Amino acid sequence: MEQTLDDITRIVLEAKERAYRETDNEPEPNMASSLNWPIECTVGPGLEGAIACETRIGYVNGAKGWLIYRGYDIFDLCAYSSFEETSFLLLHGKLPSATELETFSKTLRRRMFIPKTQRLLLSFPVESMNPMAALRLGTNLMRQKQTYQDHLSESSSQEALHSDDDSIAMETVPEGKQHPVFQFLKGLFRPVSTVEPTDLVSSDETESCYNLIAGVASVAAAIGRAREGRIPLEPLPDLSFAGNYLYMLTGRRPTPLEERIMDVCLILHADHGMNASTFASMVVASTLSDIYLAIGAGISALSGPLHGGANVEVVSMLERIGKPSAVKKWYRTAMEQKKKVMGFGHRVYKAYDPRARILGPLAGMLATENPELKTMYQTALALEQEVVAHLGDSKKIFPNVDFFSGIVYRSMGIPSDLYTTIFAVSRVSGWCARVMEYIEHNRIFRPRALYTGRFDEKYVPLQDRS
Ligand code: ACO
Repeated sequence: MEQTLDDITRIVLEAKERAYRETDNEPEPNMASSLNWPIECTVGPGLEGAIACETRIGYVNGAKGWLIYRGYDIFDLCAYSSFEETSFLLLHGKLPSATELETFSKTLRRRMFIPKTQRLLLSFPVESMNPMAALRLGTNLMRQKQTYQDHLSESSSQEALHSDDDSIAMETVPEGKQHPVFQFLKGLFRPVSTVEPTDLVSSDETESCYNLIAGVASVAAAIGRAREGRIPLEPLPDLSFAGNYLYMLTGRRPTPLEERIMDVCLILHADHGMNASTFASMVVASTLSDIYLAIGAGISALSGPLHGGANVEVVSMLERIGKPSAVKKWYRTAMEQKKKVMGFGHRVYKAYDPRARILGPLAGMLATENPELKTMYQTALALEQEVVAHLGDSKKIFPNVDFFSGIVYRSMGIPSDLYTTIFAVSRVSGWCARVMEYIEHNRIFRPRALYTGRFDEKYVPLQDRS
């Protein structure tokens, strides 16, 4: 049966209804109030329970399994908003007016055009690099002329912020027949050499956030293309952010359904409290380093399999399991070997992750037509049943955002190695918003470690050591 855009909205709203029905009676944690510093809190290893700052950006209610961006429920944003609008909301603290949204969307679209960064990127062996390492590299390359504390140098910060001028453009059609590697532009997008006249822009940092949100998507898409031996594409003026990202990655115009699915995925991954990658970005920014370097730190932290890298691991795990009937045996062995099941568990959620509530049924809908994907989805459902039956009540372990996202991406033909880069394309908006908020009242992050080592050791010269 042909799926429609309404089906996606229906899936999101049904997930919302289930989330509220199933978790409404859970006790509310006391994590949404103002503080008088200094505060006392109980801290566990890995900074569990530590409160590092106040925020107005987003709230994860781990007991109920609710996720809020700037007061708006994630389910409503997925049902009715777009990634552009959600990014604006995260960065600027309010939903945009129609004019603001149009200006913002255009701004992002123009700044997806980063020929110089992409050309520099392709001078490295990105096709054989880990995609997240390549993404980090590309993010640093976006800031070509300066990389560190502009006020210490003689160049203007504007130059550094808009250094993506280039007279050499990218390929302009997806499957060039006899094109040179780079082709001069036909005039679709002229390189951005000056700040666009927009009243949205209030500071250099905001400018950088726009560059980063737009540019990370283009870099991620270029990495995907390079891994297939292809060269980058420039964005199209009539596509949304999600649509352009898909287009630049796959080389074909996405269907409206694919565009909407990617949009929902990007909204879902945009922000999530003080997770490891957000914290990493904030720690780097708190030294008054550079926001491009701070976002690079976020990309690095996200890449790990305990964090965003889990979405790649999940798909290879499901492939290894192979079929639903193999799940029980696989799970028993995994538990005997004390392995963690990828895509399950969360430091904050002690209820079902709201993002998985959407991505699960979405994966189910997209898998119906494709036998290989259908087996993978059914294997995932069987694994979910097994894990929740054993660990749901006792350890509050449920699927997290990474459990079903890979099946969704695979339905659009995206290679699994790239799944964590998709996460980063979205999360850069949350990283930017949180960094901007924190540095307003910046204090360098500097926790301490308890020393449990030895004292009073006598230094023995090398030649006297046994
Ligand atoms: N499979 C099996 N058991 C698990 C899992 C899992 N996925 N996750 C946690 N547990 C168990 C642990 O073994 C531990 O049991 P114990 O108390 O008997 O020793 C208990 O639950 C608590 O686990 P911790 O590792 O202490 O929980 P923590 O909050 O430190 O870690 C994390 C959270 C990293 C997400 C963890 O659940 C995990 O490793 N999950 C698998 C990787 C994954 O999916 N990561 C993506 C998370 S979402 C995101 O970052 C975008």
